[in-house]
Amino acid sequence: MSHTFETLPENVKQYSAQELQKLLFSAIDLGMQIKESHWTMAGREFLSVHRLFDEVHEVIEEATDDIAERIAQLGHKPEGTLKSVAEKSTLPSYPKSFQSIDEHIEIISQRLAYFAGQSLQALANIEEGGDPISADLITARTREVDKLVWLVESHLTPKK
Ligand SMILES: [Fe+2]
Repeated sequence: MSHTFETLPENVKQYSAQELQKLLFSAIDLGMQIKESHWTMAGREFLSVHRLFDEVHEVIEEATDDIAERIAQLGHKPEGTLKSVAEKSTLPSYPKSFQSIDEHIEIISQRLAYFAGQSLQALANIEEGGDPISADLITARTREVDKLVWLVESHLTPKK
């Protein structure tokens, strides 16, 4: 797209930007789903989970920013408007209604795990494409998201 002094070959930049863009759609969608859950939950464990989800949101927001800025750095235009996210995010959509805190925890764990899986796929592609810098960025962010899966899941009431 636009000129950049980034040293990677044009086709590599193009491929990385395209892979990162798919992640960006999901990351934005994921951030919104976490907030929706944060706002709508109710139940005995409300305060701790409500606060936890704000922390989770912060991590996802930073990852989102990092991904978008890497796309820009590669000389491409990050696409992050609500309309394009609604059309192109592959993250499973947010369920219309559910009740218990455990259901909120389960849904957000699933969404985080989905995103981590998608990130690992993008990582493999980008590594193969020959862009170790974007790969490093995704590795670091996926490590954080993977930890969030564990952190959120650990709030589930153990099944007897
Ligand atoms: Fe809040």
